[in-house]
Amino acid sequence: MEKIQINTPGAKSEILVGADWESVSGMLPEKGVVIVTDENVRRLYGSRFPDFPVLAITAGEKSKKLEVIGHLAERLLDEGVDRSGFILAVGGGVVCDIAGFLTSIYMRGIRCGYVSTSLLSQVDASTGGKNGVNLGENKNILGNIRQPEFVICDTAMLRTLPDQEYLSGLAELIKTAVIGDIELFELIERNYEKIMDRDQELLIVLVARSVNFKASVVSADEREEGLRRILNFGHTYGHALELQKSLRHGFAVASGMELATEFSFERGLISSVEKDRIISLLERFSLLDKHNIPDDNIRQLILHDKKKKGTNIHFIFTEGIGKALVERVSVDEVVDFYKRFRDKK
Ligand code: GLY
Repeated sequence: MEKIQINTPGAKSEILVGADWESVSGMLPEKGVVIVTDENVRRLYGSRFPDFPVLAITAGEKSKKLEVIGHLAERLLDEGVDRSGFILAVGGGVVCDIAGFLTSIYMRGIRCGYVSTSLLSQVDASTGGKNGVNLGENKNILGNIRQPEFVICDTAMLRTLPDQEYLSGLAELIKTAVIGDIELFELIERNYEKIMDRDQELLIVLVARSVNFKASVVSADEREEGLRRILNFGHTYGHALELQKSLRHGFAVASGMELATEFSFERGLISSVEKDRIISLLERFSLLDKHNIPDDNIRQLILHDKKKKGTNIHFIFTEGIGKALVERVSVDEVVDFYKRFRDKK
């Protein structure tokens, strides 16, 4: 088991990679605890939950809306949860986003911790304190940044993930490798079979490397005023693809990384060997989709980007495997590159 700390000006958060999730019982207060989860996780693990009230939301992105937050807050009131209450979120990215946001505003903020159950949330979403809900089709418009007290990443829980969900998480793992950890990239390249077999020893190493990298970035720039932007590699095009094609987040980010890698190559930031290695790895895990969004739609979708400031976007390039570069690029350039790449294929 590896303990990784996030230290920010306002909080400390501990991420336990490879810990047994049932050890969470020893980390909770004796009373005032409510568990927030989703129906799938409750079906698989609910009989082993600590003995506290359980609120289960419908699984999936559609639950990320204010209405669900309001409903859960009412249920907390019914359960008599006051300012000394504690929410344990047991689930993937959606559950952690919702529970994190709920605990940040319920009675102006109560304590929380997570058991992170999906690969995507273990390697990315549950670390770093970002939380929130969508507003219509606009992702994560309402939310904030607030660190949970702890996150347990038990890789044994990844055995029950559906294949597509597991692969979706793998895309965020590859993202971390491309932006900050060449050794992680090589480990993924060398271990295709073991990764597909969900080898536990290897998964602990991969998740811990990813969390270590993210923890260092978040500790340096919790509010995403600079360095943290690199974690959005692949996300500018990725969010567009996710919206247009209803792809799972990781698959959309994988295709977004393909585009960002090609864009980096076009700008002379990486060699063709590096470009081919990144794209081959994404292809090997069958993460890539076709690029066929029509002109008008791609412009509208890119204009939705939260990272847009005026007519510019903080676009994340790769400067070689293990190194990222943030540059302000105009919306026109981002859209034009998409069109050029789409029409060349
Ligand atoms: N998922 C990107 C971040 O936490 O900043």
